[in-house]
Amino acid sequence: MSQESLLEISNLKQHFKTGRHSVIKAVDGLNFNIYKGETFGLVGESGCGKSTTGRTIIRLYDATEGEVYFNGENVHGKKDKSELKKFNREMQMIFQDPYASLNPRMKVEDIIAEGMDIHGLVENDKQRKEKVHDLLETVGLDQEHANRYPHEFSGGQRQRIGIARALAVDPSFIIADEPISALDVSIQAQVVNLMKQLQRDKELTYLFIAHDLSMVKYISDRIGVMYFGKMVELADADELYKNALHPYTKSLLSAIPLPDPDYERSRVRFNYDPSDHDTSEEPEFREVGPDHWVLCTTNEFEHYKKQLATV
Ligand SMILES: Nc1ncnc2c1ncn2[C@@H]1O[C@H](COP(=O)(O)OP(=O)(O)OP(=O)(O)O)[C@@H](O)[C@H]1O
Ligand SMILES: [Mg+2]
Repeated sequence: MSQESLLEISNLKQHFKTGRHSVIKAVDGLNFNIYKGETFGLVGESGCGKSTTGRTIIRLYDATEGEVYFNGENVHGKKDKSELKKFNREMQMIFQDPYASLNPRMKVEDIIAEGMDIHGLVENDKQRKEKVHDLLETVGLDQEHANRYPHEFSGGQRQRIGIARALAVDPSFIIADEPISALDVSIQAQVVNLMKQLQRDKELTYLFIAHDLSMVKYISDRIGVMYFGKMVELADADELYKNALHPYTKSLLSAIPLPDPDYERSRVRFNYDPSDHDTSEEPEFREVGPDHWVLCTTNEFEHYKKQLATV
């Protein structure tokens, strides 16, 4: 993994108007980078703004405020058609629900080839078929699956089709929005391992969204923790597990089920109470240790730095 940024997300906001005087601040000022070739895990409880972050980055929504730079180029703002097309090809998304995200009336071949057609990546039908067959093989399915319909597949197989569809346009960045949450536990690891293999083979960069920390640790190089539209902590995956500083991160960690039932019964759960924070000033996202960021006030910053120094 390099330290070179593929994406730079700067003060990104997505506010939804829900009435004349009410807005939901789904994403409220995010600042972080995603390095080339890494898996950046984004976690937080339901409704904290993970999917909205992904959708805004990939431009399914226009940002309310802020910028997203992809290879140094601003993704948002005014763009001509060919520039938009280029971004659309470079950034792909894999969705949580492999049932809802595949058109039931389309054959697998056409689902996978849709993006190749849009971007004019194949010259004739023979080449199109060959490419689809290659992609099916790449994701661990058979060539003969090309002529079938989504309902003929299991959840894990459908997610593989979704991955093949994303890969078809040769992207460099993939947002995977809870790609395994809807799958049986026994299938989850297979899909994650496939994603890891593809990342190595094709030098992909991932934004991997999940709402608990257990699988994210296994797949991510770095992890960002979101709470109510803000990022409260960001660190290397190992660092975050060893030295979590923000109380919300600690509460998420204490909620991961443990394999040992005795330990599981005796361990102390940590509940996050947002009113426990220092309120002397607005918190800011600060670098407490090397590439370890926490949303905190000046007082909390000093306290966290001391805490890190003693470990
Ligand atoms: N299109 C929309 N219009 C209005 N509000 C929205 C819209 N999309 C999301 N929201 C709201 O924005 C907040 C963040 O939603 P989002 O789907 O990003 O959360 P999430 O972290 O992905 O949650 P989950 O883990 O349940 O998928 C929620 O309060 C949600 O109700
Ligand atoms: Mg979501």
